[in-house]
Amino acid sequence: MMDSIRFLMCSPDHYDVDYVINPWMEGNVHKSSQDKAVIQWEQLYHIIKDRAIVDLVEPQKGWPDMVFTANAGLVLGTTVVLSRFFHKERQGEEPYFKEWFEANGFTVYELPKDLPFEGAGDALFDREGRCLWAGYGFRTELDSHPYIAKWLDTEVLSLRLVDERFYHLDTCFCPLTDGYLLYYPPAFDAYSNHLIERRIPAEKRIIVEEADAANFACNAVNINRIIIMNKISDDLKKRIADVGFEVVETPLTEFLKAGGAAKCLTLRVTEPRQDDVHANDPIESRIIQLEGHLLDAGIMNKALDTVINSGGSFKVLNFNLGVERQSTSVAEVRVSAPSHEMMEEIMMQLIDLGALPRPQELCDVNTVVVTQDGVAPDDFYVSTIYPTEVRVNCEWVKVNNQRMDGAIVVEETPQGFTARCTLLRDLKVGDRVMVGVEGIRTIRQAESREQRNSSQEFTFMGAGVSSERRVELVVEQIAWEMRQIRDQGGKVVVVAGPVVIHTGGGQHLAKLIRDGYVDALLGGNAIAVHDIEQSMMGTSLGVDMQRGVPVRGGHRHHLKVINAIRRCGSIAKAVEQGLLTKGVLYECVKNHVPFCLAGSIRDDGPLPDTEMDLIKAQSEYARLIQGADLILMLSSMLHSIGVGNMTPAGVKMVCVDINPAVVTKLSDRGSVESVGVVTDVGLFLSLMVQQLDKLTRPYIINL
Ligand code: ARG
Repeated sequence: MMDSIRFLMCSPDHYDVDYVINPWMEGNVHKSSQDKAVIQWEQLYHIIKDRAIVDLVEPQKGWPDMVFTANAGLVLGTTVVLSRFFHKERQGEEPYFKEWFEANGFTVYELPKDLPFEGAGDALFDREGRCLWAGYGFRTELDSHPYIAKWLDTEVLSLRLVDERFYHLDTCFCPLTDGYLLYYPPAFDAYSNHLIERRIPAEKRIIVEEADAANFACNAVNINRIIIMNKISDDLKKRIADVGFEVVETPLTEFLKAGGAAKCLTLRVTEPRQDDVHANDPIESRIIQLEGHLLDAGIMNKALDTVINSGGSFKVLNFNLGVERQSTSVAEVRVSAPSHEMMEEIMMQLIDLGALPRPQELCDVNTVVVTQDGVAPDDFYVSTIYPTEVRVNCEWVKVNNQRMDGAIVVEETPQGFTARCTLLRDLKVGDRVMVGVEGIRTIRQAESREQRNSSQEFTFMGAGVSSERRVELVVEQIAWEMRQIRDQGGKVVVVAGPVVIHTGGGQHLAKLIRDGYVDALLGGNAIAVHDIEQSMMGTSLGVDMQRGVPVRGGHRHHLKVINAIRRCGSIAKAVEQGLLTKGVLYECVKNHVPFCLAGSIRDDGPLPDTEMDLIKAQSEYARLIQGADLILMLSSMLHSIGVGNMTPAGVKMVCVDINPAVVTKLSDRGSVESVGVVTDVGLFLSLMVQQLDKLTRPYIINL
C-alpha cells in the first residue's frame, strides 16, 4: 500500500531566496544557506523515501522556487491541472513541470491565461479523496475553481485566505487520514470557517495555535498515520499523538525563509480517483453593468474592491471608456462568489453603487407573501437611502417612500404596479415583499466634476480637520442655501440636542426660527427642558448662561421647569399663559413651527409634549421630514441617526458636532449631499445668524 504512494520533489541545486513574493521572503533575500538547505532537503527526502516512492524533476537554473513542487499542479488519477503562477517570478517553472507531467503519462489541463492557480499549494483533497478544498484570495483566483471541478470531476469547496502570511492553502490547512484536519482557523474568513466546521466534526479538527502555524506546522506531509513536518510545540505534538498520529519532525528553517516547508517541497502524484464523486458547481456567477463616471468618480475601483473584499472574484468583460470630460463609461463585469449568500451580500453592495442587472434579463423581482403581521420573509431585500427601481411585469417601477432599512412591498393596483418601502412593523399578512437581489437597481446621480470636487472638500471637513476659516466657508455656503430654500418656499428641518443650549446657541436657533428659516424642529425631552430652563431661569442644567458658573441649587432648576410646564399641560399652553416668553420652543409655538420631542429612557419628567411611545415618535419624525430640502443636525447623535435612517438620498444634510467621530458617522452616507462640520455648535449657530443677516440686510434696506 505504502509503495503505491508517490511524491514528486525537486532538489535544491538552484534554490535561494532571490526575490520577495510573500511576507516570509521579506528581509531574507540571499539569507538562506545553500549548504544547510541541501542538508535539510536531503533529510526530508530520506524520511519520505523510507515511506513512499519519490520521483524527481530536474531543477532549473534561474527558477529558485522550483523546489516547491507542491505548486507544479494538481493531480487526480492520471489528470493534472497545471499551475498558472500569479507572480512572474515563478511563471518560468510552468513549462518544466508540464514537460515532466507529460513525460510521465499525465493528461495536462491548462487554465486560460491570466487565471492564476497554484496547484496543490492551493488545493488539497481530503485524504479519502471525497472532496477538494481549494483556496483563493492571494495566489489562486476563485474563477479557476469551476475549471478544476469540471476537469477533475470532483467536488470543490472554496476557502478564502485572509492572512497574507498564509498565502497558500497548504500553509494553514492540512487534511489528514481518517477525516482529521490540522489547521489554523484565523487564516480564513468567517464563511470559510463555517464551511470547514460544517464539513468536519469538532473532534476531528486539530487547531493549530499561531506560534506553531508560523512555524509551518500545517505545512505537513501526511502518509497514512505519519505526519512529517518542521519542528512544532510539545503541546501540538501531544494533541496530534492523542488522535493516533506519529509526528516525524525535521528542520526546514532554510525553506521557511522562502515561505515554504515540508508539504510545499513535495507533490503527491498518486491521488486515487473515487468513482462515485462528481463535480459540483462551486461558484455562482452573475453579470452586472456599471455606468457613470466609473474611473474619475472611483466607482469602478469601489465596485471591484467590494467584490474582492467580500470574498468574491470578478472578470471585466467589457469596458467602454467615456472619452470626453462629461461622457460616462459603461462596464460589464462578471462577478463570482463561492456561495449564494456571499453572492447576495456582494450584489447588495454593488446595487448600492448603482450596478444594474443586464438589460432585460429579468421581468419580475422575486416576491414572497407575508404570512405574519410585522414580519418579513427571511430573504427580504433591505432598502437603502438611494432612489430605487424594481422590475415588475417587465418594467422598472419606482419605489415610493424611499428610506433605508425597510422592505419593498410590490402591489398591483387598478393604476398598475406600485412599490414602496415599508417598515417591518407595518407589514401586513398578504403583502408581497421583494426577496433576493435580482431585478433591482438604484439610481445614483452622476455628479458633475465640480460636485465631486466640492464633495471631497466636505469630506475633508468631515474628517475633523476643519479650521476656523473652513467653518466660516461652510457656514457661508449653508446660509446661502437656507436663504434660497426659505425664499423658494422650501423646507428646512432642524434636529437639535441640548448641547445647542449649553453652548449658548439657543438664542441663535430661536432667531432662525423667528426669521422663518426653520420649518420643523426635532429633538428629545432634553433640548426642550434645557431651553425652557434657560428661558425661565437663566440657567442651563443649573449653570448661569451669562456668567458660565453654576448657581446655588441650580441642579434642581430643570425639575422645577418640568413641573411648571406639566402644570400648564403643554409647552404651547405655557406660552399662552405667559409663563414661557422666549427661547427655542417659545419661537416654535409662536411661529407655528411644528416640533416633535422623542422620549428616551433617561428623560426626567418628561415634559407633557415628549412622545414616550417611540413608534409614534418615529412616525411623527418621518411625517415632519417629508419633503425636506435641508436637514440641519445640531449636536444630537441619537436623534440625528434616527433622522438619517428615515431620509432618502437627495436631501441635503448638514451635521454639526464637536466630536469628529459623530460627524463622520452622520455624514458618511455615501452620498454627496451630506456635509460634516466639526465645530462648537453654539459658534456655528452664531456664525450662521451673522451670515444670514449679512445676506438679507441689503434687501431690507432696498425695500
Ligand atoms: N517562495 C515560494 C512562493 O512564494 C514558496 C512556495 C511555497 N509553496 C507552497 N505550496 N506553500 O511561491
